Amino acid sequence: MSKPKILVARAVFPEIIARLEQHFEVESNQSDETWSKAQLTERLKGKDGAFTTGGDRIDGEVLAACPGLKICANMAVGYNNFDIDAMTAAGVLATNAPDVLTETTADFGFALLMATARRVTESEHYLRAGKWSKWSYDMFAGSDIHGATLGILGMGRIGQGIAKRGAHGFGMKVIYHNRSRLDASLEVECKARYVGKEELLKAADHLVLVLPYSPASHHTIGAAELAMMKPTATLINIARGGIVDDAALAAALKDKRISAAGLDVFEGEPKVHPDLLTVPNVVLTPHIASATIPTRLAMASLAADNLIAFFGGKQPLTPLNPGVLAIK
Ligand code: DGY
Repeated sequence: MSKPKILVARAVFPEIIARLEQHFEVESNQSDETWSKAQLTERLKGKDGAFTTGGDRIDGEVLAACPGLKICANMAVGYNNFDIDAMTAAGVLATNAPDVLTETTADFGFALLMATARRVTESEHYLRAGKWSKWSYDMFAGSDIHGATLGILGMGRIGQGIAKRGAHGFGMKVIYHNRSRLDASLEVECKARYVGKEELLKAADHLVLVLPYSPASHHTIGAAELAMMKPTATLINIARGGIVDDAALAAALKDKRISAAGLDVFEGEPKVHPDLLTVPNVVLTPHIASATIPTRLAMASLAADNLIAFFGGKQPLTPLNPGVLAIK
């Protein structure tokens, strides 16, 4: 019997490719070429499944051109690259890679918060540029983290991980806003208090964004929201580009309407708004919040497990539109 044909759309660990090859006829992009949507579509034609990452757009247009496609397994917890409605309508299963990256991503959220509040990269650039000639009492003075009010927008698993780090590790007062309030037991565990969005914006000394991107969350933080924040506040975005209006943020940072920002995700990445590159009070990283080798390996393994289970007639581990399985 011939093996199902799958496409691995981006370069991934060789051991994952080797494992997939035991089950599938694999076409992979190990040279990690950047494919346009048209190129991705061309390669998906005739495939039964796909191993994708967050940059690989799967929508109605792609699906119409690839009627043989049955499953797309994302090596990411976020799945705004998938048009889930179109996939469901086409009978294509979508899976993502949750949980395995939670603690690593929460660690990074905290690292970015600390680097931003304590001006770590800004001061390093100063030192590397040979500008450090003497110590002074207020040189690169930043804001405190311990005891400060930590605001979290989006209280899923990663948000909860950040809350626990802040409350238990740094004695922070944690407030959060989310579409739905956490169970009381989880609020106790995270030492977090639910507040409205406006109170969150006004009260947070450090505001961390961890909500998923959707058209409804586009520009959740724009000029009006930035204006509500304390002038001493920091803003951290480890969620998705597009949740923050990057032009409005760059203007707010330039005018010191908020103190600083730490950004791991950007509108239109890998492009970065040019004004963000020129303001000093922002820490910029290239979408690396989940980037440790064990975690990236766990994410890739989960995506592979989903493909193997699906084609082996078993229940995939993390389906996003499980109704598709009932139809089959
Ligand atoms: C995710 O898993 O969604 C991270 O952003 C990595 O892409």
